[in-house]
Amino acid sequence: MNRGSRMRRLAQLHERRFGLPAYNDGLITDEWFRSHFHYAADVVQQWLGGALDLKNARLLQFGCGDGITDLALVLRHGANAIHGIDVRQEYTKLPRIAHEQLGMQAIPKALSFQTIEPGAPLAGQAPLYDGIMSWSTFEHVQRDQLLPILKDLRACLKPGGYFFLQIEPLFYSAYGSHLRRYDEIPWHHLQVDEEALWQVIEAYDGALSPDEVDFGFADFGPAGYKRFVFKEYQELNRLTADELVAIAVEAGFGVAREERRHYEPAPVPQALLQHYPRDILTNNEIFLLLQRPV
Ligand SMILES: C[S@@+](CC[C@H](N)C(=O)[O-])C[C@H]1O[C@@H](n2cnc3c(N)ncnc32)[C@H](O)[C@@H]1O
Repeated sequence: MNRGSRMRRLAQLHERRFGLPAYNDGLITDEWFRSHFHYAADVVQQWLGGALDLKNARLLQFGCGDGITDLALVLRHGANAIHGIDVRQEYTKLPRIAHEQLGMQAIPKALSFQTIEPGAPLAGQAPLYDGIMSWSTFEHVQRDQLLPILKDLRACLKPGGYFFLQIEPLFYSAYGSHLRRYDEIPWHHLQVDEEALWQVIEAYDGALSPDEVDFGFADFGPAGYKRFVFKEYQELNRLTADELVAIAVEAGFGVAREERRHYEPAPVPQALLQHYPRDILTNNEIFLLLQRPV
């Protein structure tokens, strides 16, 4: 352990002994914050917390974003230590967000964050983790980096350790474009070309659903945000649930548990059924609990 890690560990032990910073969840006004602080954290607690004791575990969050879920896992579910990594730096907003939404003066020492280059290996940088989690991130990872990243994450885990991974929406599902905030037509991205889709997004001037507006929106402004989310759409890796499981197994994980959810907000267009299996078109979410073999 280097000096920085030792200091962080000491600060974490101090916090465990003398208590976490105070917070008031009655102050929450932001729906994005609320859905991560409650829903996402509760799902992680159910899946990962059902397999290991979060209160005594060291955890890695792959694709932590703004870190709200990690904050909730510490405050609401007693997680002991979470290291969040991401290719962006949205987590630098967390102290301000936690102040605005929870009245916190500081974020817990149990949290630490790191920016990485896409695909940069993490194994060997820190002692092995008890658990890893990843929420709405793996659909954004470049396809050729999926296997190396999953192998690297496996190498970051203790033997017998668990990795909980969630993706929603999956690409071929009704709103798998991640563009629903601007386009309510189900499976639209599979029926028109990119130019036509962009025209719909560009022309949209309605309100955005508050739980779909993240804290990056203010940085981009309305037009910039449209360009940002459309680029994200173009870069989606189009992974299906079967492909994800197959790559995870190839990376050396065992599947401890999985759940696939289906969503059919309107009858699937016949034309699409001629090109894609119904199951792929209706499967919008996967929860996957992986385990590094002992
Ligand atoms: C939709 S956001 C989800 C963030 C967070 N998990 C949440 O629930 O709010 C996807 C995140 O994955 C990150 N990401 C994309 N590719 C990545 C990669 N190769 N390595 C690490 N993070 C990545 C993005 O920067 C982004 O923060």
